[in-house]
Amino acid sequence: MERHCRECHRLEFEPAVTSREVPHGKPAEAVNVVSDFYASLALNGVKDSFEKAFGVPGEGLLRRVGQPSESQRKVALQLAERKADRVSADLFEVRVCSTCHEVGRNDAGWTIAPVRIASRWMPQARFSHRSHAQSKCADCHDVARSLDSSDVAIPDIKTCRECHTGSKPVEKKVASSCMLCHGFHDASHPWNPAKPGAVAEARGAR
Ligand code: HEC
Ligand code: HEC
Ligand code: HEC
Ligand code: HEC
Ligand code: HEC
Repeated sequence: MERHCRECHRLEFEPAVTSREVPHGKPAEAVNVVSDFYASLALNGVKDSFEKAFGVPGEGLLRRVGQPSESQRKVALQLAERKADRVSADLFEVRVCSTCHEVGRNDAGWTIAPVRIASRWMPQARFSHRSHAQSKCADCHDVARSLDSSDVAIPDIKTCRECHTGSKPVEKKVASSCMLCHGFHDASHPWNPAKPGAVAEARGAR
């Protein structure tokens, strides 16, 4: 997330007023940052940011003339708390976290399911990009016609067979026995999925 996503997927909670973001990966800390922000705005905010954030005329309590009473302080902090609750719910459930996570809620607060990013799409056969560097990416990955991020643009076996024929040689094709891609019945085959380290090896070979 930090290295590959955050540059575009920013964790801003009040973009109209501040470019501040919540920390990633710690729901309770994110909630605290949001609460602290509105509490501080309710007490110290200038007119412009106060009004943009709360949508009512005014400015931070401590900016007003005179010493605020305890009950005025309470009212200001209640305003901040209600706003922080709404913004946190929006942040977690609608606008930001739910883009990438299943988000739930229980008595202890929000629950965040881990993301699942597949790194092996064909667990029963082996494939190495290095051996296919002569082909264009789009020959195998049909990305030009993809309109949705849920499209899985991994080629099917038909694509493999455009080049890989059976074990008999065919002109301009790659003769391929079953064992080229599978290790099903040979425990010593380097690509037998059951062989210790086989998957790591195939990954490293990419
Ligand atoms: C170069 C900018 C950029 C990077 C980097 C980026 N994204 Fe996105 N992502 C976008 C844009 C733009 C959208 C579309 C936003 C929209 O439709 O509101 C999007 C949408 C999404 C969606 C929602 C898709 C849907 O169908 O609703 C998910 C999930 C997502 N990105 C995950 C990620 C993850 C995970 C990473 C890091 C591994 C990442 N993105 C990195 C720009 C980026
Ligand atoms: C652009 C996608 C994206 C968004 C938006 C996003 N996350 Fe994540 N999150 C990830 C990825 C990817 C991981 C995997 C670990 C990592 O890279 O930090 C992750 C991991 C986590 C984890 C650890 C999960 C686990 O059990 O392993 C938590 C908790 C979490 N995110 C909370 C949040 C919260 C809270 C928000 C909203 C403020 C949020 N995330 C927004 C992509 C995202
Ligand atoms: C000959 C067909 C072929 C070509 C050409 C090809 N790929 Fe792939 N690619 C595959 C297959 C098959 C997989 C799934 C392998 C697996 O994970 O089991 C894959 C997987 C991927 C993945 C997901 C793997 C992961 O680690 O998440 C990405 C990303 C990818 N390819 C990008 C590219 C790019 C970029 C190019 C061009 C430089 C390219 N591919 C060229 C066949 C191809
Ligand atoms: C060019 C590579 C290649 C060759 C050669 C090849 N296969 Fe496959 N085979 C694949 C791919 C890719 C899959 C899909 C694997 C997946 O989705 O995990 C597959 C799937 C299978 C499956 C289904 C596996 C499962 O558990 O779902 C069987 C069985 C199979 N092949 C048998 C064979 C036999 C028998 C031969 C020889 C006649 C052969 N294959 C030759 C690439 C190949
Ligand atoms: C555009 C033609 C082409 C397509 C499509 C193609 N291959 Fe290949 N493949 C080759 C060629 C050429 C070689 C031989 C490369 C070499 O000798 O280094 C090869 C070699 C291989 C090898 C053995 C070399 C190694 O990586 O160790 C495997 C396994 C393989 N391909 C699997 C696949 C699978 C699975 C697919 C489909 C997802 C596929 N190939 C699609 C052309 C193709």
